[in-house]
Amino acid sequence: MITTDITIRTARLADAEAIGGITSLYAEKGYILKRAPENIIENIRNFFVAEQNGSVIGSCAISFFTLHLAEIRTLAVIDTFKRRGVGSMLVRKAEEVLGEEGVTTAFVLTLSPDFFLSLGYREVSKEMFPQKIWRDCTNCPKLMACDEIAMIKELDGGTVGRKKWNVLG
Ligand SMILES: CC(C)(COP(=O)(O)OP(=O)(O)OC[C@H]1O[C@@H](n2cnc3c(N)ncnc32)[C@H](O)[C@@H]1OP(=O)(O)O)[C@@H](O)C(=O)NCCC(=O)NCCS
Repeated sequence: MITTDITIRTARLADAEAIGGITSLYAEKGYILKRAPENIIENIRNFFVAEQNGSVIGSCAISFFTLHLAEIRTLAVIDTFKRRGVGSMLVRKAEEVLGEEGVTTAFVLTLSPDFFLSLGYREVSKEMFPQKIWRDCTNCPKLMACDEIAMIKELDGGTVGRKKWNVLG
């Protein structure tokens, strides 16, 4: 079911607390990596929120790795709004912005592969993403027993596997 009165927009500083509230619920359950309040504030322009009647009901973030590779992360929708298309709308917004920036491959590390499958992502080996391992995973309590699934989507029919993923992408 699609809910029509929901707006997806770039987050503002005033949304930081609401984003923190939603994401920490799922971080405690191990679905997403915890983001400290100062980390959310520092990166607020890389977050998107879903809003209904002035309330934030979901959020996600983008994180750039090279000129062509970026992660969609910290995706969360509050329980009462699940399965109404909100998560899909957030991911599509993130993909749109990544596409505008010239990113050709979006990746996720997720425990919700069916959701991302429904949006055209496919599973790949985690070893494809050494930058991710070094940037975030060293702080993750699950480091040596990571159960997340790596998935990618080519945003413009790109050239995954042929690109040299260094900082100049
Ligand atoms: C994953 C999550 C963001 C999905 O948000 P959502 O708004 O419920 O997703 P959508 O309504 O857009 O779902 C789109 C499709 O994805 C699939 N899907 C979504 N949730 C699913 C689930 N739990 N199991 C199986 N398929 C699922 C379905 O095909 C669904 O379409 P349908 O409802 O018509 O069958 C939400 O469940 C969530 O916040 N989970 C906890 C945090 C998390 O796992 N985040 C991802 C980290 S990368």
